[in-house]
Amino acid sequence: MSEEKVTTDIITLTRHVLDEQRRHKEASGDLTLLLNAVQLGCKFVATNVRKARLLNLVGLAGGAVNISGDEQKKLDVISNEIFINALRSSGKVAVMVSEEDDEAIIVEDEMKGKYCVVFDPLDGSSNIDAGVNVGTIFGIYKIKDGSNGTISDVLRPGREMVVAGYCMYGSSANMVISVGNGVDGYTLDNAIGEFILTHPNIKIPTRGKIYSVNEGNAKYWDESCTEYFNSLKFPPEGKNPYSARYIGSMVADVHRTLLYGGIFAYPADKKSKNGKLRMLYECFPMAFLTEQAGGRAITGKERVLDITPQKIHDRCPIFLGSKDDVEDIENIYKKQC
Ligand code: AHG
Ligand code: MN
Ligand code: MN
Ligand code: MN
Repeated sequence: MSEEKVTTDIITLTRHVLDEQRRHKEASGDLTLLLNAVQLGCKFVATNVRKARLLNLVGLAGGAVNISGDEQKKLDVISNEIFINALRSSGKVAVMVSEEDDEAIIVEDEMKGKYCVVFDPLDGSSNIDAGVNVGTIFGIYKIKDGSNGTISDVLRPGREMVVAGYCMYGSSANMVISVGNGVDGYTLDNAIGEFILTHPNIKIPTRGKIYSVNEGNAKYWDESCTEYFNSLKFPPEGKNPYSARYIGSMVADVHRTLLYGGIFAYPADKKSKNGKLRMLYECFPMAFLTEQAGGRAITGKERVLDITPQKIHDRCPIFLGSKDDVEDIENIYKKQC
């Protein structure tokens, strides 16, 4: 029987980022240290999500509601505090924006660094009580030349991000991240507490067979959106309909879309004229990752990463996924103009 070959040369996320950093001579190592703080936050949230039921961490946080109008879960609040503390103590962050904080957090001078981190500490939290996959989504900007770190450093198009990623808390903790040179996936090895490279160079298929959207909003969709999804459900003779998959956690729906291809969408509709998902810490990081994996992300009319938020919790519509599928949507919206 062939001997199971023991891997003795494991590539951890830290090592992979250091390798990437060595490619940029001017790199100071600050980003590596910042990403170590992000990793710590994700590991800490992962353990709390896993123990949530045992520690009675499920359920609402005493009825608190965030600025987006979401009822805050206990784990939303705990995850948020974990990330704020991990990021602040790294000494590499100047500005933080979190879904769970109404205002941007400007780090005090003695702890201030040169990066801005926008994050959704716990995405899909409405699913947490049902044990469905949830996650953390994050994006990183470098502060602008000459800036001391203010809100203007995050009210910028998503294309100016230097890092985007998410960590999905499911049967294992899966970190998917891009530093602008493709997308890599890592799986947390709880025994050694390291994220190990398991999905190098993720590339999304050019076309998929799955669509992922909350059809409960179909009554409110605009004509182009309705025409597009009907074209998937009732294709011309000889073509198969797409399959419908919708988990309701953006991290899980986007993770499946990156690996299998197809479309994930949260369109604008008559109820929500900019859709539901927040630009800075949901749409931008997921659009950045999708483009880095060879896919596309549009609002229907324009590239998501080209939009500039006016306020830190602004929302935008999003259709993201396989480039040929996104092109189909774009062509339908173009007819509308
Ligand atoms: P969050 O839990 O961070 O507030 O995000 C929830 C989002 C996103 O995860 C998901 O795609 C979307 O809400 C689902 O919204 P619907 O339940 O309206 O489909
Ligand atoms: Mn929320
Ligand atoms: Mn979210
Ligand atoms: Mn959230």
